[in-house]
Amino acid sequence: MIRSVLLGTGSALPRDCVSNAELAKRVDTSDEWIRERTGITQRYIAGEGETTASLGTAAAKAALDDAGLSIADIDLIVLATATPDNTFPATATKVQHQLGGKGFPAFDVAAVCSGFLYALSTADAMLRAGMAKRAIVIGAETFSRILDWEDRATCVLFGDGAGAFVIEAQDGQDGGAGIIGSKLHAAGEHGEILYVDGGPSTTGEVGKLRMKGREVFRHAVTNLSSVLSEVLDDAGFQPADIDWVVPHQANLRILDATARKLGLPMEKVVVTVDRHANTSAASVPLAYDVAVKDGRIKKGDLVMLEAMGGGFTWGAALLRA
Ligand code: UT7
Repeated sequence: MIRSVLLGTGSALPRDCVSNAELAKRVDTSDEWIRERTGITQRYIAGEGETTASLGTAAAKAALDDAGLSIADIDLIVLATATPDNTFPATATKVQHQLGGKGFPAFDVAAVCSGFLYALSTADAMLRAGMAKRAIVIGAETFSRILDWEDRATCVLFGDGAGAFVIEAQDGQDGGAGIIGSKLHAAGEHGEILYVDGGPSTTGEVGKLRMKGREVFRHAVTNLSSVLSEVLDDAGFQPADIDWVVPHQANLRILDATARKLGLPMEKVVVTVDRHANTSAASVPLAYDVAVKDGRIKKGDLVMLEAMGGGFTWGAALLRA
């Protein structure tokens, strides 16, 4: 049985960290409101010279180092982003070039906040189909550049960053390390709840993020708890078997409500939204890397990844670390 095994993780954040108090000097908001409604205390904002590709490259390099590999060992890059450096070429090809890779396929996946789940599932399927042996899967975003800084209901929620996994196709045993299963969903009828009001084929401009926050919240809790149960059922596990949940870091209240619905204690949920805010496709690999590096996620742990975002799109993946 071929399984995609996680060999290394890495992450990268912009230089500038902006606290709620600093944000409140520029936007009509308060530290208290942001903390109470979201759990966010600070976010990192990309500055001059920092782009989705540069953050993605830094995260990928860190993941390669963690795996003890070099770019010569890699034959696939899949990068999830909703904030590419350019409309084209794909940011994945820029990362390939910046890492010194040549010839192998590199492409972007666009599924907004659940982009990393889509990218990981795609790379996993390609590895299991024999199309590649070792992949770098990246979530990288600079959402600060598509925020309307006049809209206090959205601009306080997001941050920039990147995270990366290195995965390898291995002939494994049932019960061994690797991605055990994943599920992806989309519901295009809800596109107008969370979207960017521009694009190359419509306005010809990049546009800004627009969101009906309450509606996203409601759908998120329902969709996430149902996809988690779906993945667990398919794999023959119970919620109690999970060692760690690494969720998309949108809002502490969403994480809390989803965990509660599944009967999972918050002690098993990796939370980084307080430090990073919502970094869209970057948030799951970023949070995973933090939890590996601080010693929480250990080899052999059963870990559930999950995310939901614009589209709507959502998904979950279960892996043995
Ligand atoms: O990856 C998915 C991304 N999306 C999400 O995760 C969003 C999910 N939704 C949410 O997290 C919440 O809906 C929000 C945090 C966005 C908003 O919380 P809420 O409890 O749904 O607040 P609300 O939008 O209903 O606004 C309540 C009040 C309003 O004032 P009034 O009309 O009651 O006087 C807003 O104008 O809070 C006001 N408000 C703010 N006040 C201070 C909205 N944004 C702010 C702000 N600072 N930044």
